[in-house]
Amino acid sequence: MPPVPVHPPADLSAERPALRAALLDWYDAHGRTLAWRAAPGAAAPDPYRVWLSEVMLQQTTTPHATPYFQAFASRWPTVPDLAAAEDSDVMAAWAGLGYYARARNLLACARAVAHDHGGAFPDTEAGLLALPGVGAYTAAAVAAIAFDRPANVVDGNVERVMARLFAVETPLPAAKPGLRRLAASLVGDERPGDWAQALMDLGATVCRPGRPLCELCPLTRWCAGFGSGAPERYPLKTKKADRPHRAGVAWVLRDDRGRVALVRRPDKGLLGGMTGLPTSDWSGPAAEAAPPVAVEWRDAGAVEHVFTHFSLTLSVRTATGAGDFLWTDPDEALRSLPTVFRKALERGLSLGPHDIGEALVGQSPRTLRR
Ligand code: ADE
Repeated sequence: MPPVPVHPPADLSAERPALRAALLDWYDAHGRTLAWRAAPGAAAPDPYRVWLSEVMLQQTTTPHATPYFQAFASRWPTVPDLAAAEDSDVMAAWAGLGYYARARNLLACARAVAHDHGGAFPDTEAGLLALPGVGAYTAAAVAAIAFDRPANVVDGNVERVMARLFAVETPLPAAKPGLRRLAASLVGDERPGDWAQALMDLGATVCRPGRPLCELCPLTRWCAGFGSGAPERYPLKTKKADRPHRAGVAWVLRDDRGRVALVRRPDKGLLGGMTGLPTSDWSGPAAEAAPPVAVEWRDAGAVEHVFTHFSLTLSVRTATGAGDFLWTDPDEALRSLPTVFRKALERGLSLGPHDIGEALVGQSPRTLRR
């Protein structure tokens, strides 16, 4: 049984050393082994790998980010390698991670480090923050993890841990500045990178969003959320307005060699600069639009996709034809398209064998996923 919980004093300063030691000990025993982390006791991790992983992890979970990280790190092992990469190669390798503006920022940052900083990342939070596309979170995370600076690294996991530890009754997002101050009150000079990652790991594996595993938590003696008997109530959240719904059409056009017609999207806007299927405008609730070529189109049903700010129904139409497109092998397209287009292409390819390439016949859409 854990010790009887106490409500923590609003100011934990007297307890701070014990609390910090408890979490760092827990991290030594239970921290996750992740591709971008240095092994315990090893030299500090490569700042390039830390930066790359942190940019990827801002939009996805560690299991989803790991294969992308490994692919990037083996194809572009150093920051000058990434700086010298073709934009289109990096964008294609990023496909499936979402927020494609981040891939462009990633390249801009790599090029700034390679050309303006001699290939070495600045080693302070302020220096990192001055790089293109590096925001407060990334600067703090790289400063702490790669350079052992006592930076206050606050992501959603850390906010949740703070909200529970201090039983913060203010709902998110209004609580954010207060949660940040609470997190700052616990940062110290000893092992800042491990401290940041320990809080993240605790949030991801124990102090989880749904049912927290308080029986495994090293911090229950100090945790007001645990003391309240309902830690899962925290962080409180202001009810979000429902996402708006949009609709559009995606066209899966195949040529007589079975290749798929792709287009490069305009630089500005959603999925800007990415390669995609030709689509109608989807900025409104419903759209009917002229197809990219005048041939006979067959209805292939629809796919759903949820973006951060809206959900989308894409009706899929298929046809055989020709025209001025980026004609791409379907396997290659399935590998490199952003998820929303991959779903639509899978739908279009599964419609029927009339114009489906040999390699794809008989495979269900799921087996075509990477
Ligand atoms: N989430 C974001 N960065 C992370 C890291 N360095 N370790 C674990 N989870 C993370």
